[in-house]
Amino acid sequence: ENRYLNLPNKNGAIKRTVTVAVDGQPVVTNEIELADATPDWWAFMDISDWRGKTVSVTVDKLPDDSNALAQIEQSDAIKGGENIYREPLRGQFHFSSKRGWNNDPNGLVFYNGEYHLFYQHNPYGWSWGNMHWGHAVSRDLVHWQELPDALAPDRLGPMFSGSAVVDWQNTTGFGRNGQPPLVLIYTAAGNPTVQCIAFSLDGRRFTKFDANPVLNQITGGNRDPKVFWHAPSKRWIMTLYVELNRTHTIHFFSSPDLKNWTYLSRTDGFFECPDFFELPVDDNPANKKWVLTAASSEYMIGTFDGTKFVPETPKLPGHRGRGFYAAQTFSDIPPSDGRRIQIGWFQTETRGMPFNQSMTVPLELKLITTSEGPRLTWTPIKELHILRTSTHLLTSTKLTPESSDPLANAKAELVEIRADFEPDNQSILLFTVRGAQISYDARTQKLIVNGHAAPAPLLDGRQNLVIYCDRTGLEVFASGGLTYVPMPFQPAPDNLSLSLKTTNGHVNVTRIEVHNLESAWPQQ
Ligand code: FRU
Repeated sequence: ENRYLNLPNKNGAIKRTVTVAVDGQPVVTNEIELADATPDWWAFMDISDWRGKTVSVTVDKLPDDSNALAQIEQSDAIKGGENIYREPLRGQFHFSSKRGWNNDPNGLVFYNGEYHLFYQHNPYGWSWGNMHWGHAVSRDLVHWQELPDALAPDRLGPMFSGSAVVDWQNTTGFGRNGQPPLVLIYTAAGNPTVQCIAFSLDGRRFTKFDANPVLNQITGGNRDPKVFWHAPSKRWIMTLYVELNRTHTIHFFSSPDLKNWTYLSRTDGFFECPDFFELPVDDNPANKKWVLTAASSEYMIGTFDGTKFVPETPKLPGHRGRGFYAAQTFSDIPPSDGRRIQIGWFQTETRGMPFNQSMTVPLELKLITTSEGPRLTWTPIKELHILRTSTHLLTSTKLTPESSDPLANAKAELVEIRADFEPDNQSILLFTVRGAQISYDARTQKLIVNGHAAPAPLLDGRQNLVIYCDRTGLEVFASGGLTYVPMPFQPAPDNLSLSLKTTNGHVNVTRIEVHNLESAWPQQ
């Protein structure tokens, strides 16, 4: 009768095999740490599709005195959800799921005016497991609305990572009345491990292709298809992680219709979650290069003739921080926009919360020329500016170790700081943001975030820093985006202090902006 089944969850309890059947037909099986007594938190299962039918829950197996089944109840509300999005460790401008665990972003795509963020989701546990594709949509990449999970485990296995494309020319035949289908390409991680597709015409309801899989197992554990339309050869290209004779490889395949795939070539040396895209160098459309990257965010730059990637660089380092993994970029951003936008899995552990992990802010990727050749840059997307509420501005100041703290009176919970400065070669500039220490050491040209050092070259003797601080982490950018340092971090809730000083040398500060930010979640 109601929208949800609320399921009692106890972190660390024995995992029970829980099968849900509708009118006697088993629909989905999950491994759940059911609470026999008082739960830590409540997971919810959306059962609205089965309104009016008989839903039964079977557990194998429970102790005789367990209260687990008796506690399960149907409701139109998420039990314990009164405070949703206001929890002390809920990132306020980083996406996280209402309940359960997330890892990789999946199927990032722009379709019918909405950005879609799918993600590896365990709806029924605080840790990894029961892989579903969670689903959220946004019109501005900043405010996200969580929708019901798009894909649930089936007879082919749990739903591992993958991508999404808009099939503009209806090569699949899934389109109707001129409406191009949104197609998800994912790994069903059973035994064998196979690649499958599903489609939607409204961005809400997803139908798995009835002739899945579309690509059989090459070797066990092959996974994470990332697909794009290659206009010059008028066909789809898939990059797929495949372990071959103990070597990590990315395999390239082509397809006319997303259903039949032909092997093309391979590149060695990348593990899990490949992504592959073309970018102009220095915004010059006449000089484009291909970038191959994977879960670690290391990358190679090269050429692609529609069949084979030929690298022109060795493997280069990606992000320079911690807790960033399995990023992917959006498909089908309108050409009038033309940006390459990436979201990564931000490994922010949130103990005591009914959810765990999150996503980074959306990042714009570019290629710029450096003395060593073209390199990737990461910058936070401009849309994040809509979260600014009040601004503290500082212009042309010279800072020495004797200077008073220009931020002594500033306070912030959610904050964005932008700093442009010219340090002398002996100087160290130190920001303290709610207890986090972010310093730039001009002697070594390093950015140090909570003790973690990253190379951050001066550009024409100048440095620019961008710092975002949320309840679960920092994201720090330097050297025009050549240096990106994500860093999980939990500021003490009552520490709202900011400070800025030079501990060594002299720094000419051109401009500092401190923006207080508002939450991106709906206000209740
Ligand atoms: C990366 C990864 C992927 C896989 C998914 C499973 O974090 O291991 O390779 O598809 O997570 O959740």
